[in-house]
Amino acid sequence: MTFASTAFGVSLAGARPVLVDVRAEDGLIDPDRIEAAITPRTKAIIPVHLYGQCAEMTAVCSIAAKYSLRVIEDAAQAHGASYAGRRAGGLGDIGCFSFYPGKNLGAYGDGGLVTTARCDLAERIEVLRNCGSPVKYHHDEIGLNSRLDTLQAAILRVKLERLDEWNAARRRIAAYYDAALNGISEVDRTRHSEGSVHHLYVVRLTGRDRVLKALNARGIGAGVHYPFALHELQAYASLGHRPGAFPIAEDWARRCLSPAIPPRSCARTRSSRRRPWCRRSGFTSRARSRRSGTRPRRASRRPSCRRPIGPSPGLEGRPWRATSLSRPRGAAGSSPWFTSGSTGQALRA
Ligand SMILES: Cc1ncc(COP(=O)(O)O)c(C=O)c1O
Repeated sequence: MTFASTAFGVSLAGARPVLVDVRAEDGLIDPDRIEAAITPRTKAIIPVHLYGQCAEMTAVCSIAAKYSLRVIEDAAQAHGASYAGRRAGGLGDIGCFSFYPGKNLGAYGDGGLVTTARCDLAERIEVLRNCGSPVKYHHDEIGLNSRLDTLQAAILRVKLERLDEWNAARRRIAAYYDAALNGISEVDRTRHSEGSVHHLYVVRLTGRDRVLKALNARGIGAGVHYPFALHELQAYASLGHRPGAFPIAEDWARRCLSPAIPPRSCARTRSSRRRPWCRRSGFTSRARSRRSGTRPRRASRRPSCRRPIGPSPGLEGRPWRATSLSRPRGAAGSSPWFTSGSTGQALRA
């Protein structure tokens, strides 16, 4: 299970995505199925840290080592997530983050970031994102204009300070849902690890579309992530997979439902403890105002939301914390450094 872009990165790099089914309990790539999908032409494995939870990276990395493959983490939904004490984006050769506004760390427009601890890959990605040009007007290869917009970088730099706090709020909401849904046999909850940052809280249930409609009709935000498995997309009809080729992913696509998990609007309100989707979120107030024909109310500025931005002790010393979104010149050692880019560029590197 993933958003289409994971595979698009492969296709846009001129390669062919080879799909692997997911685990029933969490929708993450099933390590037991990876080896069967590897051919002599395989270059890399792309585990997706779906819904904010890291894939089984010990198993993925040991398979990659066995076949001399690179590991490219799709960490688009996993800002701040951890696995065995290490952060997403620092677990494979390359980590790819999205700053689409809805992400745990979202910009005010589009943006992305690639992490790697390998200097050779870093230098190559830096060239690719800069029109294939290591030196101004010297275009050694065909590249892209894919530098992170400075304005977005400035916004992200400020928001980064609050990421752990927002992720903690997401964990609280997920715990609420877990407790509320415990014992309801019709609902399959997603197994999640401690390191998850709950980009989404996803359950599976029969009659999903009916429930989604009923929730939305009551002004309760909920969505579906995702209604199709990758091989079911028209864009990948050419891969030639039949229905049933990836039965677990197909089951997720038919039955998954994501009730809203908007941390910033409910992190500290009393009502949020009772209703994690929180009426004060833009999501629900827009739905309410559509019904009533009024303008949506602006969320009041609570003093607790105006904490001055300052150093966040929780983030200090962690390798993936970047205050600069470009590579520190001369940086050495094993800490990943940062540049903007895409999964496609990571693959081409
Ligand atoms: C799992 C996953 N991979 C890749 C992407 C693509 O990110 P972007 O839209 O920033 O290119 C997304 C974005 O939604 C995503 O959720």
